[in-house]
Amino acid sequence: MQEKLEQLLAAAHEEVDAALHSKALQDLKVKYFGKKGHLTEVMKEMGKLSKEERPKIGQLANKVRTEIEAKIEDKHTELSERELAEKLKAEAIDVTLPAKEFRRGGLHPSTQTLNTLIDIFIGMGYTVAEGPEVETVKHNFDDLNSPIDHPSRSQSDTFYFNAELLLRTHTSPVQIRTMLNNKPPIKIISPGRAFRKDEIDATHSPMFHQIEGLVVGEQVTMADLKGTLNEFVRILFGEEVKTKFRPHYFPFTEPSAEMDVSCYKCKGEGCKFCGNSGWIEILGCGMVHPNVLNNCGIDPEKYTGFAFGMGLDRLTLLKYEIADIRLLFENDVRFLAQF
Ligand code: PHE
Repeated sequence: MQEKLEQLLAAAHEEVDAALHSKALQDLKVKYFGKKGHLTEVMKEMGKLSKEERPKIGQLANKVRTEIEAKIEDKHTELSERELAEKLKAEAIDVTLPAKEFRRGGLHPSTQTLNTLIDIFIGMGYTVAEGPEVETVKHNFDDLNSPIDHPSRSQSDTFYFNAELLLRTHTSPVQIRTMLNNKPPIKIISPGRAFRKDEIDATHSPMFHQIEGLVVGEQVTMADLKGTLNEFVRILFGEEVKTKFRPHYFPFTEPSAEMDVSCYKCKGEGCKFCGNSGWIEILGCGMVHPNVLNNCGIDPEKYTGFAFGMGLDRLTLLKYEIADIRLLFENDVRFLAQF
């Protein structure tokens, strides 16, 4: 029996060593100490032993039992520690991972140009006025002295809602609204959207942006107009840039002009940027037509004024050297993020 017990102990040692999970240890406990367990079976045979042998074997059996139990206990501690470690590893959340990048937005290049222009004119004492994009034919054309047969009035050039309402074709109706609601002296700029039935291409969009300017007061002259616009160009493009005023026609100004700036890219030599002319057209302007003043209840004998209107998108394309106006409106962040 002694031999049997010693074999049992040796076998238990081996089996416990080989156990891979704490579940297997549980099974071993049953296998050795359960009702029909190996050790239990041996103990049952104790009765067959002689009086002398019984205490000896009994002692041994107890020793074997405690030893196996201790062995299982140790192994259990070891296994459950490992199992816990594995579980923790498998379920781990690495809180040290860098957080998702927070992408900072930026201002659209058109907004940047607009802000620059607003700063320049506010610096010269102007205030910013606004007007609606859905305008009356009266404000957009009639009060601006536009002849009834002017081509811009045609259905093919202008988006009409009906005979009285349209999408404004320029920001000039804000001149009318401002003069109807304010007495001179007036000094405003008015940025906003304008709409024309233009085919979309690299330089045309049916929706585009303009900035209107209007100054009305006593003894306002063409010299004030030129001085103001020259100063504006100097701040925007720098000292070396020259300006040129070419006679033009607008129904609401007389005299009227278009203003060119010398190409700041080639310094007037001629390049692909300025179409080899050395000049770039940037705005329309002129002295407010007396009829327009009259239409707004301002006495043209007492007051004079000048007005100008420029394409904001065109300025943005020039300033940032962008080749296609569509890029400004497609709002592809990969493009816009460059500015
Ligand atoms: N409204 C004109 C245009 O859209 C520009 C302009 C504004 C011209 C003010 C003269 C005075 O072309």
